[in-house]
Amino acid sequence: MTFLPPTLSTHPSAPPCRATPTPAHRSALGQFMTPPGVARFLASLFPQANTPTCRLLDAGAGMGALSAAFLERCAAGALGFTSLAVDAYEFDEVLLDGLRQILAGYADRLPLVARVLPGDFVEQAVSSLGLWGGPRYSHAILNPPYKKIQSHSRHRLLLRQAGIETSNLYSAFVALALALLEEGGQLVAIIPRSFCNGPYFRPFRDFLLERAAIRHLHLFASRDKAFREDGVLQENLILRLERGGVQGPVTVSTSTDDSFADTLEHLHPFERIVLPGDPERFIHIPTSPEAPAHEALPGLDHTLAALRLEVSTGPVVDFRLRDWLRDQPGPDTVPLLYPVHFRAGRLVWPLADARKPNAIVQHAETAKWLYPAGCYCVTRRLSSKEEKHRIVAGVVDPALLPGVSALGFENHLNVFHQDRHGLPALLALGLAAFLNSGIADAQFRRFNGHTQVNATDLRGMRYPSRDLLTTLGAWAKTRGDLVLAEVDEKLETLLA
Ligand SMILES: C[S@@+](CC[C@H](N)C(=O)[O-])C[C@H]1O[C@@H](n2cnc3c(N)ncnc32)[C@H](O)[C@@H]1O
Repeated sequence: MTFLPPTLSTHPSAPPCRATPTPAHRSALGQFMTPPGVARFLASLFPQANTPTCRLLDAGAGMGALSAAFLERCAAGALGFTSLAVDAYEFDEVLLDGLRQILAGYADRLPLVARVLPGDFVEQAVSSLGLWGGPRYSHAILNPPYKKIQSHSRHRLLLRQAGIETSNLYSAFVALALALLEEGGQLVAIIPRSFCNGPYFRPFRDFLLERAAIRHLHLFASRDKAFREDGVLQENLILRLERGGVQGPVTVSTSTDDSFADTLEHLHPFERIVLPGDPERFIHIPTSPEAPAHEALPGLDHTLAALRLEVSTGPVVDFRLRDWLRDQPGPDTVPLLYPVHFRAGRLVWPLADARKPNAIVQHAETAKWLYPAGCYCVTRRLSSKEEKHRIVAGVVDPALLPGVSALGFENHLNVFHQDRHGLPALLALGLAAFLNSGIADAQFRRFNGHTQVNATDLRGMRYPSRDLLTTLGAWAKTRGDLVLAEVDEKLETLLA
């Protein structure tokens, strides 16, 4: 992403803001400013207020794009406040003068008291929450910094004091803002989609879902075009939360890009957003009005646990076990499988021009990293953007590995197993066919916005029954090279 030029203010008399010195400095502070159209969209999501006073929090306010968009809406007569207060927190001293001037520009047009609060928002929020429960805001608007929080950092320890366990500044800012909102308070934020799934954001999802109702989710349909000016790599999401709200249906909107020209909006039952009984509480984002496959296809309702199956990340981390790895198999080795060993779902091992080792020594020291020989379904942990489907599955057929007593799975694979043993062959085949299907892909994309496919994501999915997967496996076996469209057709008939 590039830094937006200082033309972004929505205020007509905005002074030119000085950009901060270097890309490294901007990246260290997670400084990616919101384009005006996106800022206006965020501001438009706040519902008509039922109180005359507004106390707005803008945490990580940058050059004030979001507060300005909110105040612009108020100045145009919307929202109906008779008094407004804005607290804009910003760490970067270079931006403070510009920020003050932008906010001051609204004081002539609105009954506004604006404060710019220099320094670290995390520190200030945690200390005020601890001391006296903090200031109470009625509204919060945020495009927080995106940056990893190291596990022993000052931020991590401060956040823990406020009961917030999270490893990125963006989720920390949202959690703190939520903690500072009064009951019924509204929070609108633009943040990466990564919090919707994965184990690291589980405590954050719990924090959010325990304190607020999700009212609105907006997704940009094109990952590349979300911010036309910037090379955004992360998929971004805009969300509106209501502190203490009773959860009801959720509005989900999509637009191709930040022109919002083709915005579509649908209302979905909450059970479609967070699946009942999902212990991970993944947040699913349906992008079409139709019911998702697991609702439309009643047979697609089994958790992995109900199938008595497990999925784990391949345990062999090659650089840690370098001394035990071999380019080619020998008398003391067993196969070591990487994603390159699977082509169109089939095992191709050993590879002659091995850029990756083909084997691992079987020894008391390596035993704990190995699985007993058997039939396993595996998926790649990383798919490329070019690939049609996010999940790419294959099968380890033991018939192709005669005399082999154990297997090493490298860390870039996920392995489906049954109590650390292989699966019945037809079940493994059927599972791979299902995971490669468009039906599984559509389900997966509802909660995962990036190209990583982790074991927790696979655990969060719903599957057909064991019997049905076995039937699918038997069918797939007779088909040879599978045409994926045929798998979907077959699955639909079996599941209906
Ligand atoms: C992603 S930018 C968004 C700026 C602005 N809200 C907007 O939408 O254009 C995040 C801002 O947070 C500021 N920031 C980073 N860490 C901060 C901290 N710990 N406390 C307060 N502000 C911080 C950065 O300097 C940057 O201006």
